[in-house]
Amino acid sequence: MNIGPAAIFDPFFIPPELLHREKELKVAETFVEDGISHQYPLHIVVTGINGIGKTAFVNYLGEKIKDAYGFPKVFVNMHDSENKKFLNNIIGGRKFSFIGNEVECISNEKYKDLFLVLVLDDVDLYSSLFRKVLRESKKRNIIVLASADAGTLSRKSFSNLENRLDFILKLGIYTPRQLFDITLQRVKLAFPIEIDIDVIRYITDLVCEFDINRPSVSIEILRRLYPFAASGMEITVEDVRKCSHDLLWILNDDLVILEALRNMNMQSVLLLEKMALHLSRRPKKAYLSFKELRDLYYLLCDEIRDEIAKYMLNECVEELLESEILFKSVFNENYFYLTVPPTFILNLIDAIF
Ligand SMILES: Nc1ncnc2c1ncn2[C@@H]1O[C@H](COP(=O)(O)OP(=O)(O)OP(=O)(O)O)[C@@H](O)[C@H]1O
Ligand SMILES: [Mg+2]
Repeated sequence: MNIGPAAIFDPFFIPPELLHREKELKVAETFVEDGISHQYPLHIVVTGINGIGKTAFVNYLGEKIKDAYGFPKVFVNMHDSENKKFLNNIIGGRKFSFIGNEVECISNEKYKDLFLVLVLDDVDLYSSLFRKVLRESKKRNIIVLASADAGTLSRKSFSNLENRLDFILKLGIYTPRQLFDITLQRVKLAFPIEIDIDVIRYITDLVCEFDINRPSVSIEILRRLYPFAASGMEITVEDVRKCSHDLLWILNDDLVILEALRNMNMQSVLLLEKMALHLSRRPKKAYLSFKELRDLYYLLCDEIRDEIAKYMLNECVEELLESEILFKSVFNENYFYLTVPPTFILNLIDAIF
């Protein structure tokens, strides 16, 4: 299925499948259904770090309940003041409408079995508005699915709050493989052309190494790559670097790298040079396997006619890893990648030696 740019540019986009949240979804769904079958609307507050998928989760869950029961569903972005009017109508016990769509007044006896699914995105858990909505929701058959920043849960007054909430569901971070799957899903949904699997793996490696395993960052990188892909250009590893470095904590300060090179064994510098040369000629290649490194290194030893240096391969690789110029992939520890452009490394080496 290809949806187009909305899949990455619409902040409230609901993915056709919420990947790797099966367990959490099952728990949340069963909880809500339990409330429905007992005519008692239960609410859920979903928390987690920024960009982990809280909005997507509550929205997706809301859609599932809507589809299963045919209940109306309303999405409310709590930062939009227009939407607050709608919530005030709920609190005031009035019949409410939402962006032109008349939503039935659920408290009406006639609609006793009907529930409204109310998705509240990014609520302030301590606000009186939220408290009142929760209170009123019980009287009016409203199932509230709210998302909230994890930071708010660390406040001292949290224990008071906790007593008032039916269920707090905390979303944990994804494993690298899960994050890769989510990024790949989004590429397939949004991009007009295919992107090399290694390029997607590279994006995931960078996010996992230099940020936190959260999809908001990898999707932000996709947003920046999109204009190039839309114009039909093939996405290279270098494009990923250009589009992601300012988002991530990557070392690319000339002086620091220069200093690191100066303090290295000559063999390590020469190996790095070989790698950089190899990669600079293959713009779609992100990784070098250990075997490839070894071949390059042995070639180098032959060139400098130093048979004994062959025994130093592991040491050289270790030195490059320690100086944070070379990195191991989270997907396979026999695969290595660079974070700075190979041409940049070649220029620096040229400048020093
Ligand atoms: N399990 C998943 N499957 C597919 N896409 C996901 C999944 N989890 C998160 N996403 C996507 O990751 C991006 C970030 O998620 P989302 O905006 O829901 O995070 P958030 O926790 O609400 O962020 P914020 O803290 O900024 O409000 C969205 O594009 C969302 O659709
Ligand atoms: Mg959100």
